[in-house]
Amino acid sequence: MAANTAPLRTLEEYSLVSERGKQAVVRGLADAQWYVPLVPREKMRELLERRNGPAIRDTIIWFGLLLALGLAGIALWGTPWAIIPLFLYAVVYASSSDSRWHEAGHGTAFKTDWLNNALYEIASFMVLRESVIWRWSHARHHSDTIIVGRDAEIVLQRPLSVGGLFLKFINIPGFFRYFQSILRHSLGKMAPEERMFIPEAAFSRVYRRARIYLLIYLAVITLAIGTRSILPLLFIGLPNLYGAWLMLIYGLTQHAGLAEDVLDHRLNTRTVYMNLINRYLYWNMGYHIEHHMFPLVPYYNLPKLHELVKAYMPPTYNGLIAAYREIVPTLRRVAKDPNYYYQRPVPALPEPEAAHAAAQVVVSDALADADGWVEVCDLNLMVLGDVLRFDHGGHVYAIYRTSMGQMFATDGFCSHGKAHLTEGFLRGDIIECPKHNGRFDVRDGSVRRSPPRVALKTYPVRHKDGRIQLKVK
Ligand code: FES
Repeated sequence: MAANTAPLRTLEEYSLVSERGKQAVVRGLADAQWYVPLVPREKMRELLERRNGPAIRDTIIWFGLLLALGLAGIALWGTPWAIIPLFLYAVVYASSSDSRWHEAGHGTAFKTDWLNNALYEIASFMVLRESVIWRWSHARHHSDTIIVGRDAEIVLQRPLSVGGLFLKFINIPGFFRYFQSILRHSLGKMAPEERMFIPEAAFSRVYRRARIYLLIYLAVITLAIGTRSILPLLFIGLPNLYGAWLMLIYGLTQHAGLAEDVLDHRLNTRTVYMNLINRYLYWNMGYHIEHHMFPLVPYYNLPKLHELVKAYMPPTYNGLIAAYREIVPTLRRVAKDPNYYYQRPVPALPEPEAAHAAAQVVVSDALADADGWVEVCDLNLMVLGDVLRFDHGGHVYAIYRTSMGQMFATDGFCSHGKAHLTEGFLRGDIIECPKHNGRFDVRDGSVRRSPPRVALKTYPVRHKDGRIQLKVK
């Protein structure tokens, strides 16, 4: 009889302090280069443009809905009819806060940053996520999507417990883990795993937030005791037990049952077409492959992005039911065989990487003059608001021409990871990294938005007689 050579799976492998995480680094799976399809640069620039209008409209409707359902619950309190608005309130509160948390966390929902930050903090509280911790864990999720031992946000871990999966629909044990976690953080303690992806400089903010969360919950409990009514807890706290199921229904479509440890989002992520209501509640996160490939694109532009790249994608699921026709049998099989993955068919198209890069890179071996200046290219090659990659002498530079016509140059790689800043988004004097939405001021290289913590090196750049020149030494 042939021996079973399939590797034994344990939940410990998913820990960020596991041996498996170290192996992922050795195997080149950490912070690696992922497959990205070709999107013409001018099209991408249009898609990256942010507006306040769509997210303000959607957020007003969202809070309006919560208010209306909450008031209806109060008005009907004492009658069995109150169950309907209070249940719907819980679903909107605990499930659709997930996508608001997500989009605002990327800083892409609104054009105005304080609006992103305010919605992020509110939605983090509503969805039971500690805002500072999850900002960092989500950056890791984007670097190392479904890489075992590296990704801190793998929802479905192997071996799969079917009972455990059902408990997730009523948010157990997530609910209790959250309160344990904020209690620990409020006492000023970080877990070893958290230390793997959160910089020490952020610890004090984690502790401060945890204390604020605890104070809010204490106030709600005090109000419930003082008024001898469970009603306050039905607005804050308990909805996360019976209203979070829709978040899981949406969330499982993202990666459940698909490949682990691959560097192609088409193999470990799903894009699902959704109806108008689900698209609204989920803020277009059904376009999840596209989001992972291009996290700078705001949610309201994801359908347009999908149209541009769908030739490179595996078939898109026509609705949640179509997705679950695949997910349910896959998970039943995973429950029996923890090494089973559903294999998605990927179109056999030419590798777009070379064309993608060639369209945006100037490579030069030219010698610098006595003062260190080197010729780059014609000024006309760069439109206003553009950024160009310049490879010279084994170094990668990013050269910026702002919308005001000013020129700046920095190192071409983000100081946080291996991302080309030239594939990012230049807005005013700020370049946004394509990988985790970190931002730098191109005038002096300073960090303007985490996760980067180290400033970029800057270089003098000028244009002379219609030619761009960079000082490389
Ligand atoms: Fe993480 Fe740039 S690589 S923000």
